[in-house]
Amino acid sequence: MSGPTHILVLGAGGFIGSHLVEALLTQSNASVTAVDLDFHKLEVVHPRLAQHRASIDEPGLIARLVPSADVVVSLTALCNPALYNTDPLRVIAANYGDLVPVVEACSQYGRRLIHFSTCEVYGKLALDRTGKPMSHMSEDDSALFLGPIASERWSYACAKQLLERVIWGHAQHRQLEFTIVRPFNVIGPRMDFVPGVDGEGVPRVLACFMSALLHGEPLSLVDGGHQRRSFIGVEDFVEGVLRIIARPDACRGQIINLGNPANDVTVRQLAQRLSRHFVEQAPSAPAPRMREVSAEAFYGPGYEDSERRVPDMRKAERLLAWQPRRSLEELLPAIVESYLTHYGLLSGTERPQ
Ligand code: UGA
Repeated sequence: MSGPTHILVLGAGGFIGSHLVEALLTQSNASVTAVDLDFHKLEVVHPRLAQHRASIDEPGLIARLVPSADVVVSLTALCNPALYNTDPLRVIAANYGDLVPVVEACSQYGRRLIHFSTCEVYGKLALDRTGKPMSHMSEDDSALFLGPIASERWSYACAKQLLERVIWGHAQHRQLEFTIVRPFNVIGPRMDFVPGVDGEGVPRVLACFMSALLHGEPLSLVDGGHQRRSFIGVEDFVEGVLRIIARPDACRGQIINLGNPANDVTVRQLAQRLSRHFVEQAPSAPAPRMREVSAEAFYGPGYEDSERRVPDMRKAERLLAWQPRRSLEELLPAIVESYLTHYGLLSGTERPQ
């Protein structure tokens, strides 16, 4: 990949950030300044990598780092749904308030901004702008359909949407060059955390299920696991992001879905498939079990769900000349293996239910 020489990655130590930085170091000539509070997922030493341990709201940090970068990749987020209705003020600050200065600095210094938003901005289901159902969520044609204010689940989507609107406004009125990425349920090694081992709380579904399998506990199917998600492997996803970085002209001023519509399954199907691969690789572990749990019991009051999220990928295909390739059957065995290698079986360590 050719392209920009100096990339500033904010949130480089997270799940997507760590995979992206590794790919930038191996597949481009760019130098990377990586900013995060924690780099345990990115234990890489490389002559083109500078790691900067800091919070992005540290006074003066953004004003100091943005001017020396050609491209700013903004990945910092609080993106676990269990937080949206339990700590919405922190969610809104992390996904909106803390990031406005990043947008303003890119605008002020004329730096290209690649901002990671979310498929969650589309809300509960795919609707067109007149409210009619659509089969796919489309960047420029779908409405953004959130629930009432008391359904605090939507605090995150609303914060993310407002930041998109701020970026859009800077582009229209202050010449900001940007691309917004809307990821659709990226999965892979190093996702989130395993509760009680390297984090606390409730991670996203893949990490919840892997944690349950490793602990020998039941996999929780929220409201029966009938909701659907389209899962994309992090390797495919990062390939798409590298193309966005390498194609500034094609991607200027664009909002782009990155997901894999071919991997659209119910959450129950994901649980069943992960369990099958887990049994194959860890035959001595306790047999996987499932339990159904209400959303209220699992997440608390104020939680609502997206029923189904299938990305319209026509724009990404056109602008990037790229399609995701890996099926769930290809992805899941490697993910199970990576969790087993990294964490080992945890079933001896009983935790409170
Ligand atoms: C989350 C974030 O809110 C999005 O911003 C982000 O883009 C998205 O993840 C993503 O990974 O791309 P969501 O898909 O709702 O959205 O998050 P998950 O926690 O992964 O939940 C997926 C589904 O699994 C939900 O229906 C949830 O209720 C269900 N679930 C979760 C279970 O059935 N069991 C669990 O143990 C955990």
